[in-house]
Amino acid sequence: MRGTLMLTWILIICLSQVAVQSQYYSKTRPYHPRPVKVTNLHFFMHETAGITAVQVAQANITSNDNNSSVPFASLVAFNDPLRTGTEPDSKVIGNVQGIALLSRMNASSTQYIDFGFNTGRFNGSSISVFSRGEPGLAVAGGRGKFMMATGVALFNPIIINATNVIMEFNITVVHY
Ligand SMILES: *[C@@H]1O[C@H](CO)[C@@H](O)[C@H](O)[C@H]1NC(C)=O
Ligand SMILES: *[C@@H]1O[C@H](CO)[C@@H](O)[C@H](O)[C@H]1NC(C)=O
Ligand SMILES: *[C@@H]1O[C@H](CO)[C@@H](O)[C@H](O)[C@H]1NC(C)=O
Ligand SMILES: *[C@@H]1O[C@H](CO)[C@@H](O)[C@H](O)[C@H]1NC(C)=O
Ligand SMILES: *[C@@H]1O[C@H](CO)[C@@H](O)[C@H](O)[C@H]1NC(C)=O
Ligand SMILES: *[C@@H]1O[C@H](CO)[C@@H](O)[C@H](O)[C@H]1NC(C)=O
Ligand SMILES: *[C@@H]1O[C@H](CO)[C@@H](O)[C@H](O)[C@H]1NC(C)=O
Repeated sequence: MRGTLMLTWILIICLSQVAVQSQYYSKTRPYHPRPVKVTNLHFFMHETAGITAVQVAQANITSNDNNSSVPFASLVAFNDPLRTGTEPDSKVIGNVQGIALLSRMNASSTQYIDFGFNTGRFNGSSISVFSRGEPGLAVAGGRGKFMMATGVALFNPIIINATNVIMEFNITVVHY
């Protein structure tokens, strides 16, 4: 592992020196698309308010929505476990981390989040979502086995109360 890391750094340094000595762009080549694969993922996000999801900022404005506990222009940071089931003791398969910008005037949000997995075939891989927080979240990319991912994330609330959110996710990912 250490050796590989060292080798990677040597390569990066060598490559950057080559880049410094020559042009800033490569020759333009034809694009040969690689065959892509499709994977469907199904899991449950378990969120606990104040513990796995915390409001970190809020604009000092008078909200025009008295019905919402989280007013417009609130920023929430979260790192929620992903589990195989709805039970709080079901197996953890990874986590979703990121921020959500809440604009509850329309019960809406913008999500900047990353689903990472720490077990099974996709251990170490992750899926990046950058999307308006409505069903059909846009998968904007991915890492590891999800390199060059595109896709769609559907979600469905199982429980939403003052302290807990359990959300079911079905993500269809097209990737290399
Ligand atoms: C919020 O805004 C009001 C009005 O502009 C101001 O009086 C108040 O000090 C602000 N509060 C904070 C915490 O900045
Ligand atoms: C929200 O509540 C405040 C204070 O109670 C009130 O002045 C305001 O009109 C309410 N706004 C709405 C949209 O109901
Ligand atoms: C707040 O809730 C009440 C009752 O459900 C509704 O009539 C009102 O339109 C809501 N106000 C806003 C600003 O959403
Ligand atoms: C979205 O919010 C704006 C501003 O509060 C409001 O005028 C509009 O009707 C809302 N749209 C929906 C679909 O709730
Ligand atoms: C996942 O990958 C990490 C890092 O390579 C490794 O330490 C861990 O044992 C793996 N976990 C499983 C369940 O395979
Ligand atoms: C996810 O897929 C399962 C199994 O196909 C289905 O029962 C469930 O309704 C789907 N949920 C969502 C939010 O699409
Ligand atoms: C919210 O739901 C969870 C899971 O069902 C439950 O353990 C908890 O007591 C509920 N909290 C409230 C405030 O209803």
